[in-house]
Amino acid sequence: MSAIRFPEGFLWGAATAAYQIEGAVDEDGRGPSIWDTFSHTPGAVLRGDTGDIACDHYHRWEQDLDLLVDLGVNSYRLSVAWPRVVPTGSGAVNEKGLDFYDRLVDGLVERGIAPMVTLYHWDLPQALQDAGGGWANRDTAAHFADYASVVAGRLGDRVSHWLTLNEPYCSAFVGHLEGRHAPGVRDEATAVTVLHHLLLAHGLGVQALRGSGVAGQVGITCNLTSPHPASERAEDVAAARRLDLYENRMFLDPLFRGAYPDDARDYYDGITDFSFVREGDLETIAAPIDYFGINYYERHLVEADPADAVRGWRRVPDPHPTTVGIGVHPEGLREILERVARDYTSLPLIVTETGISLHDYVDPAGEIHDAERTAFYDGHMRAAHEAIENGVDLVGFFPWSLMDNFEWAWGYAYRFGMYYVDYRTQERIPKDSARWFAEVTRRNGID
Ligand code: FCB
Repeated sequence: MSAIRFPEGFLWGAATAAYQIEGAVDEDGRGPSIWDTFSHTPGAVLRGDTGDIACDHYHRWEQDLDLLVDLGVNSYRLSVAWPRVVPTGSGAVNEKGLDFYDRLVDGLVERGIAPMVTLYHWDLPQALQDAGGGWANRDTAAHFADYASVVAGRLGDRVSHWLTLNEPYCSAFVGHLEGRHAPGVRDEATAVTVLHHLLLAHGLGVQALRGSGVAGQVGITCNLTSPHPASERAEDVAAARRLDLYENRMFLDPLFRGAYPDDARDYYDGITDFSFVREGDLETIAAPIDYFGINYYERHLVEADPADAVRGWRRVPDPHPTTVGIGVHPEGLREILERVARDYTSLPLIVTETGISLHDYVDPAGEIHDAERTAFYDGHMRAAHEAIENGVDLVGFFPWSLMDNFEWAWGYAYRFGMYYVDYRTQERIPKDSARWFAEVTRRNGID
């Protein structure tokens, strides 16, 4: 394969999220989040794992920042835990929580690494869930904006990239329709309401960040998929379009066109009448941002499902599933990047996550040979590079994840990291993919 080089100044990073790595859930005034509650609910998480300790990053953050130096990245994507900063979601601010992120951001800047900060990576303060249903309650969006102002007030001078939300699709639909994630609700009308309130929170969050005069760029990260009809049959083509509505257009259209898609009311007919949308909401949601983050994991083949009267689609199982049941399709990333650039926005794009979970193990020589992960990154970086050659303004790429961590409903059984974490000793061991990635960042490309 030929050598490729990325544009000068390209952002190479690694991504993590607070609840997945920090642990220290009771320390320094942190309040409980919906993920503390959910992970302690019997049967909710594989093997009963919780984020109580996770990677103990709260205590080991300095060593962990040194791992970033070893990787040679010029950026790092972390998330701030809302319940550390505002333990009950609204009202009193916990300065000790802010202090932690202050030190972290300083530690990054000292190492020459630009901080990218996600404000909401799924850890809603439990108090907001208890009082009025969390994201099902419109007030949560306003509380989020207040929290965003607080964080901006402390970190706004040093953070280079802000992300309001991570993957509103998962918060809304995995958390409130499938019930596989916190808060474990299974109700489609609630899920769509939640989606709207999340997008509203994003819009209000953008206003709050701008109002605080942050120096960095402001954006949001959505997980997008690449759905393809399984055949040319009209039913399959229509099914793929409906899945595309559910997984992609329900987010892209309001963010970039200021409207829900024309077919949304039809799709949700009998489920919700969208009466939760108030005048001015869509203008708020579509307020200009500076860049757009994309998480990519899934390309789907879709066929009509006559048995499912509501949705009418089903995904065709991938012939070569990975541990999490999806296939490896780098071309899907190129398709999404080109689609967003063609149909939605000319803003700079950043791949804020992509990655693969493998059954990694430490061999007798103390090494972790994760050739499949390296091949995965190689393929996806080449696909991203093709998109750049085809005119997409892609400015960064952040593998998920820096290190193995609490993988939500899959607990610690699923490893996505470039560093292996031995959860008994908290030792971090570079996998082969970490060494490979360090070469990529050094060369700004692949040879
Ligand atoms: C994404 C999440 C991230 C991680 C990866 C594997 O959906 O944003 O926290 O769990 O999946």
